[in-house]
Amino acid sequence: MKKVLFSIVLGLGLVNSASAFTGDAAAGKTKAATCAACHGTNGIGSTDMYPNLAGQHADYIVKQLKAFKAGERKDPVMAPMAMALSDQDMADVAAYFASFTRDGQAAGGDAASGDASAPAAAAPAKPTFVADAKVGKTIYEFGDKARGITACVDCHGKDGDSSVLINPNLSNQHAQYIEKQLKAFKDGSRVNAPMNQVAGNLSDEDIAHIGAYFVDTAAVGEVEAKSVVVSKSFVGDVAAGKAKAATCAACHGADGNAAVAMYPSLAGQSEAYLLKQLRDFKKAVDTNNEEGRVDGVMAGMVAPLSDEDMKNLAAYFASQTLYPSTAEENAAGRKLFVSGDAKRGITACMACHSVDGQGMDKAGFPVIAGQNATYLQSQLEKFRSGARANDLNNMMGNIAVKLTDDDIKALAQYMSSLNNKG
Ligand code: HEC
Ligand code: HEC
Ligand code: HEC
Ligand code: HEC
Repeated sequence: MKKVLFSIVLGLGLVNSASAFTGDAAAGKTKAATCAACHGTNGIGSTDMYPNLAGQHADYIVKQLKAFKAGERKDPVMAPMAMALSDQDMADVAAYFASFTRDGQAAGGDAASGDASAPAAAAPAKPTFVADAKVGKTIYEFGDKARGITACVDCHGKDGDSSVLINPNLSNQHAQYIEKQLKAFKDGSRVNAPMNQVAGNLSDEDIAHIGAYFVDTAAVGEVEAKSVVVSKSFVGDVAAGKAKAATCAACHGADGNAAVAMYPSLAGQSEAYLLKQLRDFKKAVDTNNEEGRVDGVMAGMVAPLSDEDMKNLAAYFASQTLYPSTAEENAAGRKLFVSGDAKRGITACMACHSVDGQGMDKAGFPVIAGQNATYLQSQLEKFRSGARANDLNNMMGNIAVKLTDDDIKALAQYMSSLNNKG
């Protein structure tokens, strides 16, 4: 898990992308001659080893070329290729390949004019493994909550046509290439925060299924979410925790639903996260506020608790059910939460807190869906000012410093509305 977290943090630095150079597709056509041997004159890879670039977002192509050049994305073949390109060259070849449709047709663009006599792309060979395209599509469209896999469709779009410019199109890509990249994200050799998180939870079988889906997305019929019943089990002793929880009720509610908006609800929060917070409050007491999570009120509460008590309290509150919220949805908050803001280097919150705000238990990412908005706002402000600094590797602090007051208000309201069932 350390490794996953570490790669996530590394990835945060790489969020930004968009080039300041405007690409010229006509100039790019000339410069792309050196790429043709592998990526085809029309951006259709000559063999399954070489990814298709046709119709890929230009911003994404530039971002990858820069990453190859800087050695952030490692590939012995592409490193020297990218090394030879200036920023302007990159913008030009990106504009050129982006001017095609995903299947390598010239998209009525006047500048690019894909060579009509270019040899037809070799049809992707049928994969040798036995994988189920339908299972792949199910993972793609619905993810798998029980295993912390975010649905890919939220970022890469229906059948792999993404509308967010730094999220690559996957449609018409070679299945083998997709699988190779997923494995690289999984083992951390290719670094990107959301993808390391998502791929880290994929099994090799999942990856094969997803590859099979991309052999021919049109051939796979509609799929339905498989309903997963997650039976909760807890490390701590729920009953013993309940007995201890009486002193917490005044602020957090007897069942963990806080009635006053400045106090956090604890019901349904991840057990591991709750335990970490209690230990962090205690650590602040023990270290004279040098480390841990500093809060005058909670300091008094945790002082008399043993580690055993804290385990049991965490189990008790995690076992409770959070009430549905009545907060209204917020469009600006939603946009930041789901897509982040590449220009300002803000990672999408959903990469860690998941699309539905349920967090990722195993990675220590808390549930924020349905939490009191006033509390959420106060925490983002504390992460931003450094008053709260108990997040591993400054994961939240790095993001919060980039948020304006308006961002924080919008985000807090949106997150609070996430379990509004009405
Ligand atoms: C000798 C073969 C070869 C040549 C020539 C070549 N590439 Fe590549 N390219 C590759 C391979 C292999 C990969 C996949 C690397 C990986 O697995 O991460 C790749 C990946 C890429 C990617 C990332 C694609 C994605 O979907 O993430 C881009 C962008 C790219 N190449 C652009 C170029 C450009 C522009 C040129 C010409 C200046 C070029 N390549 C020349 C072999 C080549
Ligand atoms: C939170 C948004 C997000 C989610 C969810 C997500 N991805 Fe990605 N994905 C990205 C971004 C951003 C990149 C580009 C990474 C980079 O810049 O190197 C990417 C890159 C990829 C690539 C490499 C593409 C290439 O051309 O090299 C593949 C393959 C991929 N994702 C597959 C998936 C699959 C399969 C899932 C679901 C299991 C998924 N992604 C879920 C954001 C996401
Ligand atoms: C007098 C009111 C009060 C009482 C009683 C109280 N708390 Fe808190 N609790 C707070 C406040 C205020 C915060 C937010 C602190 C901050 O801003 O960092 C908090 C935060 C927390 C958090 C962190 C929640 C999160 O989402 O990060 C946990 C866990 C917690 N309390 C557990 C407990 C437990 C267990 C008890 C009983 C032993 C308890 N609290 C008693 C006021 C109280
Ligand atoms: C790289 C992963 C990551 C990303 C991206 C991320 N978070 Fe977090 N977030 C965390 C972790 C880890 C914690 C818990 C830190 C701790 O251990 O106290 C957290 C805690 C929080 C909390 C405090 C919850 C509580 O109960 O006290 C809020 C609020 C929050 N995040 C909001 C956001 C928002 C809004 C964004 C996007 C702008 C975001 N996060 C992006 C990892 C992330």
